Amino acid sequence: MRQHKETKIIAVANHKGGCGKTTTVVNLAAEFSKMGLSVLVVDVDPQANASLHLGKMHPSEVPITCAELLLSELEKLPLAIHEDTNIEGVSLIYGSLALGRTEDELRDTTPRPSEELRAKLQPLDGLYDIILIDCPPSLKLLTSNALASATHLIIPVESGSQYGMYGVTDLMKHIAKIRRINPRLQVLGALLIKHDERLMVSKLIENMAREQIGKLLPIKISTSTKVNQAAMAQSSLHALDRTAKVSREFRQLARELAKELDLKGVVVEDSHA
Ligand SMILES: Nc1ncnc2c1ncn2[C@@H]1O[C@H](COP(=O)(O)OP(=O)(O)O)[C@@H](O)[C@H]1O
Ligand SMILES: [Mg+2]
Repeated sequence: MRQHKETKIIAVANHKGGCGKTTTVVNLAAEFSKMGLSVLVVDVDPQANASLHLGKMHPSEVPITCAELLLSELEKLPLAIHEDTNIEGVSLIYGSLALGRTEDELRDTTPRPSEELRAKLQPLDGLYDIILIDCPPSLKLLTSNALASATHLIIPVESGSQYGMYGVTDLMKHIAKIRRINPRLQVLGALLIKHDERLMVSKLIENMAREQIGKLLPIKISTSTKVNQAAMAQSSLHALDRTAKVSREFRQLARELAKELDLKGVVVEDSHA
């Protein structure tokens, strides 16, 4: 495997359920991989939606998921990484229902319960260009582990819903606390999901996100039925319909992020960009 510089680890977090975390992880992973970057997805959500989307196996059949990895010694790491997934070039550490019990076990058995994932991912530094972590809909220990491991954070916010910013103040307070153990954590910005410029609610949520999160990502994701279609087909938006508006938005987002993170992907110019 080619040696890279420091791996960029992006956590995609917001404890509000259904705001687009998993969709963002899966489709950014696909676009980064298309750019020639090496990508690993780590699923720390007991609901394991990213694993159901990306994985060739059902999470319940996977012997070493993120749950076992978190509670085991480092030698399990190679067994946890699955290179054969539904999206070419994207590797996966599966999530599973067992993660539901992991939080209690971590608290009882480890001296630094928030820092186990960071320790487990450390040997991968330089081996991948990018690691994307899909977080559960809570601010508990699994999300803390993701934030403590990450170099960067994306906060998806559903701007098509009047409740889109609900709980964001708690998230920002939590991030401030995590910075005590992970000072390098940088917020890349809020990612507006199901955004529609024409709607008053989208404009309102956009302003609130800019104010409370401090930064907006330059690309906004519109609403599209293709998102669910791609999930049902266990494929990326790129593979389903690369010319669709929502596919182009994720592609542009991946390119913007690659620029910002100084990742040298191969940008294939095309008329659909
Ligand atoms: N841009 C979008 N347009 C339409 N539906 C979307 C969009 N983004 C996400 N969804 C749908 O909304 C639901 C929640 O998205 P998901 O990514 O699973 O959120 P989370 O991981 O934060 O719970 C899913 O059914 C998903 O297919
Ligand atoms: Mg999810």
